[in-house]
This record gives sequence, structure tokens and C-alpha cells, in this order.
Amino acid sequence: MTATSGHDAGPAHDSRDLPGGLPDGPLGLPWPRTAVRRADGSVAVGGVGLPELAAAQGTPLYVVDERDMRERAAALRDAMTTAFAEHGAEVELFYAGKAFLCRAVARWMSQEGLGIDTASLGELTTALSAGVDAARVGLHGNNKSDEELELALTAGDTGIGRVVLDSLVEVDRVADVAAGLGVRARVMLRVTTGVHAGGHEYISTGHEDQKFGLSVHPARPGEDSPALTALLAILARPELDLLGLHSHIGSQILDPAGFDAAAREVLRVRAELAERTGVLVPEVDLGGGFGVAYLPGEVELDPERIAKETAAAVVEAAAETGTAVPRVSFEPGRSIAGPAGLTLYTVGTVKPVRLPEGSELAERLYVSIDGGMGDNIRPALYGAAYHAELVGRTSGAPPVRARVVGKHCESGDIVVHDVDLPADVHAGDLLAVAVTGAYGRSMASTYNLLPRPGVVAVRDGEVTPLVRRESVADLLALDLG
Ligand code: LLP
Repeated sequence: MTATSGHDAGPAHDSRDLPGGLPDGPLGLPWPRTAVRRADGSVAVGGVGLPELAAAQGTPLYVVDERDMRERAAALRDAMTTAFAEHGAEVELFYAGKAFLCRAVARWMSQEGLGIDTASLGELTTALSAGVDAARVGLHGNNKSDEELELALTAGDTGIGRVVLDSLVEVDRVADVAAGLGVRARVMLRVTTGVHAGGHEYISTGHEDQKFGLSVHPARPGEDSPALTALLAILARPELDLLGLHSHIGSQILDPAGFDAAAREVLRVRAELAERTGVLVPEVDLGGGFGVAYLPGEVELDPERIAKETAAAVVEAAAETGTAVPRVSFEPGRSIAGPAGLTLYTVGTVKPVRLPEGSELAERLYVSIDGGMGDNIRPALYGAAYHAELVGRTSGAPPVRARVVGKHCESGDIVVHDVDLPADVHAGDLLAVAVTGAYGRSMASTYNLLPRPGVVAVRDGEVTPLVRRESVADLLALDLG
């Protein structure tokens, strides 16, 4: 929460304190940038009151602050461009569509100067049908289908910008598909450096036990690394144009040290390939993974800091290996889409549950909402923590420790494990969960045959539906009886 005065919250603003001591005005992180608490105690985002939005669109509903999402993309683009330009290097960003992709979002990202990173036929088709320039689209995947490869290699005038190869067998596979189509494929090789990051730490293990990419470390001393072997195989196929090396070290990373370490490993392999073959590949992609604040008081990875540190690491590593600084690309998803989104729910059953003697609390208030693990699987899948607030009103009632649960038939159907809500929270209250813009809708399911919520964008008082709410009729339409 911010101070009660000295800020600009728009025309409806009045600086008196609201019941419950909550100041009106901008909400601040983890809420979207344009979120404000209005004088009547309700919250507006993008100039649209959430109670009015819920009344018009129903709940549950995913809400995207278009201005915030665009600004996040632009801020990262500008910070990266400036930091790399200082060293005479170019940088390009690809928005990772897995975080949340629909055609409008693909267009917003293109308009902000980003390409689109895809990882399936659905994501690839969505980006292309949004009119994104095929040359600015990438395709990932450890098990790409023929259909995916054929679309990738034939889209636009000359196929998509990059296919990221993930295994040795894929080298010949993609080359053969390209030969069959009579085209050339621009490819990168996904390598694993042994650097894994996420949360607050990074670890460098030097060996790998996971499905993606090829290790930059030889299995035995004196042998070529699996990455180098695949790079030599790529260069041997005339249908393949080797753009460079790709490394993605993890997600929700808050310490840039992992990127520095990975960049150095990747630059070392690039130099090793140049030494062996005379081919210095032009590009290095350092993947996505920039972390965000999910809870009040948490910090997000600052775009300028990550840009400066990675640019410095790449430049130093190039100098150490005596090679020219490569063009660099990144694939951010969460840091652009996550904080710009929230999910709006209506509270239903509220149930106090007495906890056993010796528990940390005497009683926990279970607050049931009209969605749950179907629209946000992250708490159940990763133990992810979220923040929730009442957004239809403020309250003078004392805070109580609550657990926000969904309506699915499973006791692990928890959306927010622990949050203080006003003791008078009741059926009909409007509740928002922050930072659901990434990996919320994109990982949603129809468990219990609950239709998936729709997605709307809000901006400057306008509401733009992006994805229609599913209905039971939609689900039944898939049912062949
Ligand atoms: N590039 C590649 C190759 C990736 O695998 C990923 C994420 C990204 C970019 C984007 O990473 P981001 O900037 O969004 O962290 N479902 C999980 C996250 C899985 C991320 C998988 N790869 C979650 O909900 O936390």
C-alpha cells in the first residue's frame, strides 16, 4: 500500500482514509500498475471498476492490464537495447507465449518490438494467425511433431525465424523435413550448461538429468561434448543454417548470477566450435526466467540490472575467449505477463474450521471461491504462494487468517494458502488474486468439467474481451456421446 496523499489516482480520487485504515490510491506491487483503490473502497484496473467488470462479465475472470503488460515488455526491451548497445551489441526479445498467448497479446508484443517464442502447434498457429512476422517467431520443443516442423519451415516467405533443436536425432530430422520441402531451416541448438536457477539461488552442477537440450560438458574427458557433437552435425547438413546457441536455465529467477554463469559457458562452447570449424555463430539466446513479486513486500528482478549484468557477462566472456560479441536474445514470459494479470472471483461459502490443539492457529477461515485449481494449478503443482484481497469494498473488521479454496472436489484445491482477510468476508464479496497473468489461463484445465474462465483486457476505461469464457455447452460439444 502507498501513502494516503501525494499521489495521483485519477478523477474519482479523494484522499480520505477508508474504513479499515486502507488508503485509497495506487495499490502497488503485486497488483497491476494501473490498479487503484477508489474512494468507495472498490478497486479499478485500467480505469475499469472491478465490481462493474464482474457484473458485466461474470466471475471467475482473468483480467489483463494491457498498459502494464505492454510497459513491462517495452521496459525490458529498452533496458536490454541500451545495455547491449553500450558494448556495440544487438539484442532481441521473444515473448514466451507459454506464459499466456492469444492473438491480441501476440499483436501487443509485436507492436512493442518483441518476437514470439512458441512451443507447440497451438502457440505457433496462434502467433502466425495474429499476423506476427514469421521471421520473428521461434519454435521450441523436445519432441516436435511433423505438423509443427512443416508449419515452421513453410510459414511466411521463408519459414519462421528459428527452430531450436533439442537433440542429436532432431538435427537430421529437421534437415530431412527441410530437404523434403525444398527449404532451408534456420536453427539454434539448445544446450545445457549445468547452471540451474529459480527462486533466490542458482546451482551449477556440471551434469544434467533432465529432458531438454544437450550438455556442454563431455561425458568423459577427451571426448567432444554432446552439444559440440550436435553442432558439428548441424554444420554438416546444408539444409540447416546455424544461427547460434540457446540456453534456458530456469524460471522465477531473482539473482542474475545464474545468467552470468550460463552466458560464460555458452560463449565458451561458441568459441570451441569456432576453433574447430572456423564458424563463429552469430547469436546466443539466454532464454527466459526473470522473476516477479508474487506477494506484498517481495521484489522483482529489475530490467536494468539484469540487462547490465548479462551484457557485461557476455562481453567479458567474448573477450576472454577472443571472439566477437554475439547478438543476444532472450525469451521472457512471466515477467511480462504475470504481474499484469489478476483473477477475479466471487466468494461463496465461508467456513471457520477449528484446528487441532497445538496448531499454530486456533481456527482457520476457509473462504471458497467460484474457481480454483482448474484456473490456477500453480499452488497445487508447485506450492506457489499468492496474495488475495477483497476488491469490491474495504472493511473495518479485524483481519483473520484465511485460506482461499476453490470449488473442485479435492482438498488440495487451494488458491491462496495463507492470507489475512477481513473477518466479515462473506458470500457475494469480490476477491482478486494477484499475479495470475502468467501460467494461469495457459495451464488451466476443465477438471470436474468446470469451464475455463474468459480473459479480458482493461485499458483507459475500455474493456476488450480477449478469450471467451468457456461454457458447459462448449465442453459437451467435445463429448461424442
Ligand atoms: N524459454 C524457454 C525455452 C522456456 O522453457 C521458458 C519457460 C521460457 C522461455 C519462459 O520462462 P519465464 O520467463 O516465463 O520464466 N509453468 C511454470 C513455468 C515453466 C516455465 C517453462 N519454461 C510455472 O508456472 O511457474
